[in-house]
Amino acid sequence: MSFLRSFIMPVLVFAGLFGCFPQKKETTKNEETTETRNAPVAEEIDAGAGDILVGSVFPLTGPIATYGQESLNGIKLALETINAEGINGKKMRLISEDNKGEPTESANAVRKLINVDKVHVIFGSVASSNTLAGAPIAQAAKVPLLTPASTNEVVTKKGDYIFRSCFTDDFQGVVMAKFARETLKKNKALIVIDVASDYSRGLAKVFQKNFVELGGQVIEGTFTYNQGDKDFRSLLRKVKRAAPDVIFVPGYYTEVGTMLQQARQMGFSVPFLGGDGWDSPKLKELAGSEGIKGNYISSHFSPDDQDPAVQTFVKNYKAKYAQLPGAMAALGHDGMLVLAHAIRSIKTEITHEAVREALSKVRGFMGVTGTITIDENRNAKKSAVVLETTPNGTTFKQKVSP
Ligand code: PHE
Repeated sequence: MSFLRSFIMPVLVFAGLFGCFPQKKETTKNEETTETRNAPVAEEIDAGAGDILVGSVFPLTGPIATYGQESLNGIKLALETINAEGINGKKMRLISEDNKGEPTESANAVRKLINVDKVHVIFGSVASSNTLAGAPIAQAAKVPLLTPASTNEVVTKKGDYIFRSCFTDDFQGVVMAKFARETLKKNKALIVIDVASDYSRGLAKVFQKNFVELGGQVIEGTFTYNQGDKDFRSLLRKVKRAAPDVIFVPGYYTEVGTMLQQARQMGFSVPFLGGDGWDSPKLKELAGSEGIKGNYISSHFSPDDQDPAVQTFVKNYKAKYAQLPGAMAALGHDGMLVLAHAIRSIKTEITHEAVREALSKVRGFMGVTGTITIDENRNAKKSAVVLETTPNGTTFKQKVSP
C-alpha cells in the first residue's frame, strides 16, 4: 500500500500541476512525426522532493501483460532494498507507465516521462519493438534509458544513452541452435516467425545461421504468423507437411501458447523450441498440460538455480506474491538494482550525463540473473539458461556462459 502510494501520488501531483494529463491524447502519424522532430533536450531535471526519478515503461495490460506485471513485482522488491539504504541520502521513486505492449504507446510514454515528469532515467521496456520505438526519443533528448529485457541487437545501437542489463539475441540464438544440434541431436529444423516483431525476426536469423553452421538443415519456406492470431492450424498443417524434426518459434507467450495447444491436438510429437519470449506464467495455461510438455527455451533465470542469492530472491518473491518468479521478475529486479548501483557511484550532481556515464561503468554487478558487466556497446554479457517447459513450470537443463 505505502509503495503504491509512493509512486502513484507523485503522478497525481504532476497531473494536477499540469492541469491535464497529456499522455492520453490521440496519436496520429503526423502528430508523432512532429513531436519526434521537435523532441526537446531535457537539460534540467526537476527532482521534486529531491528523489531520484525512474520512469518505467512496461506492458501492464494487453497481449504481453505478464512481462510488465512480473517486472513490477521484481522492481518493487528491489526498491525495498534500495530505499532501505537510500542513494547518498536520496530515495528512488518510480513513475510507472503502461505501454500496453505497443510501439506507439511506448514512444508516447517515453516522451511523457521526459517532458512532463522530467525523470533522471528511463527503465524499460520489454518487447524489443517497444524499446526500439522509445529509444530514439530518449537518445535525442539525451536521457539515459536502460532496458532490463530487450534482446534485439539493434536496441543499443540507437545511441550512446541506450543500455541493457540483459544478453542479446546473438547469444541466445546460438545457445538454442547448439542445444538443438548437440543436445537434442536434431538435423532438420523449421522456423516459425512472428513477422512484425523485431525480436522474432532477429532471433530467427541467428538460430538459422548457427544451426546450419553446426551441420544442420533449415527447411526453406515462409512459416509466419502475426501478433493477435488465434488459429494456427493451417500454418501448422504446412509445418507438418515439411516434416521437421525440431521447430523453433521465437515468439511471445500468447501466440506460442495457443500454437502449442493446437499442435498437440493435431498430433505433433517433435519438440518446439523458443527463446525468452515464452517465459511467462501464462504459457502453460494457454498450451495446456499436454501442449507444454517436452519443449525447450533459452531464458535469463531459473528459479531452480541453487545459488544462495537466487534462492533468497525466490523465497522473498514467493512470500510477497505467492508465486514463483519468472525471467521478467528477475530481470526487472536486477535492472533496478543496476540503476541504483550506478547512480550511487555518482559523486557530483545527478544529471542525465552523469547517469549515462555511471551506467557505462557498471562492472561485475552480481544479480540473480547473473553477473552484469556493461560492455563498450552498452550490452551485458551474461549467462543464459536452457529450460524444459513442463506442466508444473520449467525444469532447469543447462547454464551457458558467453
Ligand atoms: N527478449 C524479448 C524481446 O526482446 C523480451 C522478453 C525478455 C520477454 C524476457 C520475456 C522475458 O522482445
